[in-house]
Amino acid sequence: WKRFLQTTGTITLVTVATGTAFYYFAQKDRTPGPQLPHDPSKKTLVICGSGWGATSLLNSLDTEDYNVIVVSPKNYFLFTPLLPSVAVGTLNPRSIIQPTRYVTRHKKRQVTVIEASATDVDPVAKTVTFADTSEIQGAVSNTTIPFDYLVFAVGAEVQTFNIPGVREHACFMKELEDAEKMQRHFMDCLESAAFPGQTPEEIRRLLHMVVVGGGPTGVELSGELHDFLEEDLRSWYPELSESVRITLVEALPSVLPMFSKQLIDYTESTFKEAKIDILTKTMVKEVKEKSVVLQMPDKSIVEVPCGLVVWAAGNTLRKVTRDLMAKFPHEQTNRRGITVDECMRMVGANGNIFAIGDCTATSYAPTAQVASQEGAYLARVLQQIAKKDELEARLKALQTAPEPEVQEERAQIEKRLAKLEKIRPFKYSHQGSLAYIGSDRAIADLPFFNGNLATGGVATFLFWRSAYLTTLFSLRNRTLVATDWIKVKLFGRDVSRE
Ligand code: FAD
Ligand code: NAI
Repeated sequence: WKRFLQTTGTITLVTVATGTAFYYFAQKDRTPGPQLPHDPSKKTLVICGSGWGATSLLNSLDTEDYNVIVVSPKNYFLFTPLLPSVAVGTLNPRSIIQPTRYVTRHKKRQVTVIEASATDVDPVAKTVTFADTSEIQGAVSNTTIPFDYLVFAVGAEVQTFNIPGVREHACFMKELEDAEKMQRHFMDCLESAAFPGQTPEEIRRLLHMVVVGGGPTGVELSGELHDFLEEDLRSWYPELSESVRITLVEALPSVLPMFSKQLIDYTESTFKEAKIDILTKTMVKEVKEKSVVLQMPDKSIVEVPCGLVVWAAGNTLRKVTRDLMAKFPHEQTNRRGITVDECMRMVGANGNIFAIGDCTATSYAPTAQVASQEGAYLARVLQQIAKKDELEARLKALQTAPEPEVQEERAQIEKRLAKLEKIRPFKYSHQGSLAYIGSDRAIADLPFFNGNLATGGVATFLFWRSAYLTTLFSLRNRTLVATDWIKVKLFGRDVSRE
């Protein structure tokens, strides 16, 4: 009895302590304290975007140094790596977004958040024009504001290569609404296939899901679709589940070209086991309402009936980025994106405009990992610049004073300024590549003691889950995602169509 009471007491104590700590941090997150107001003596920093680059910058930035304004058509940060999980209902859409105001309300100085799309940047007048593109608009929905420094972090948009029918008939996998649309469309295909009197041929068409693009987005989505089929649809649509087919189409000779050969082989064999068809060296030439037109490896053209096409064929620049680049016709000639120097300054823009993430053309891959490291780095650069600006202003104020003690102070400031002049360049530290491939398996290419560790399987899947859980920006998101995973394990995915 004594031992039993001791054990129960310890468990109760640990549970109460953990619960209290959790409650304390959750409340701390929920009730931000008062903030300093905008200070007219500080410079204005405008940040365009609220994605990986911008949010990482905001998290690390000392807002005491600037009056910060964030302009983005989405008033939230989207945790893109878990987007395919939303598309099949494993995760709730709300679980992987973090309202930008949750981030900015915890900063020392007030940050203005404006839900709008930047439409034009004038690098000479140093202004940004933006428009409210949401459904409801007030009397004013378009305006221009000045900036001292601009951080351009607008990401990229889906590349369609102007292939006919893609915009009209395919679903994308880039934004939250894309995942929600795909989920609705997928469920619609299932319910239409269940409609009485449907011919076997039409059922096969409706239940054929085609994923275009064998990059990590297409592979992860195919894996998630397979899980949905195996773990839930077999129970709730037993008469249809055998007819569901997933085909992944890739123009290159293999999927996941950024992963090591061993992991590509592992993914291909896992997909084979999971009965996901991979068509490599095959290019989608057109998307029609009820089919896709494929150019096969032997150059023959085949039309394949299908119910759903998901387009995950890569990224291209946004119009606002192309327009900004066009203002520097000699310096900005890279078609992949904005050319920046080693400190993320846009080349040609006099050091007032910085660009980070997918809208830039650097030697790094367009990934969240790169964008977030660039954001955190830029926060340090901006802090250094703020110090420099402050000292320069002080030096200017002392310019005319002849007293010897002032001269001494001037000399000190000049010395400090010389030190601040040199900005340490950005250095990317690759933490490895991870991707979920379905069937509770993931693959990982990890830097390991100067070498590379390529691993795949169930243990890697657990590593994938814990890595993403810790990478999520807030306690709120971590709790919501973990709860969703538990809910799906217990009750399965929801198959009702919104
Ligand atoms: P984004 O994160 O796309 O942010 C751009 C921001 O700009 C958004 O807030 C957008 O609303 C805003 N914006 C758009 N237009 C305007 C405008 N006109 N004016 C102002 N703001 C604007 N990378 C990884 O490293 N690991 C992964 O596991 C991974 N998984 C992914 C899964 C999916 C499904 C996708 C689509 C991508 C994934 N990526 C992953 C890639 C990663 O999401 C991008 O590289 C990353 O989002 C780039 O960050 P960014 O800040 O440049 O752009
Ligand atoms: P991607 O550019 O990596 O892959 C797109 C694929 O589509 C390419 O392999 C291309 O050959 C193929 N393609 C293009 N047009 C085609 C056509 N007409 N027919 C057939 N195939 C066609 O794009 P993705 O997967 O969206 O990734 C974008 C970026 O985000 C990459 O840098 C990627 O590394 C990163 N990312 C990383 C993830 C991870 O690390 N787990 C997950 C998702 C994205």
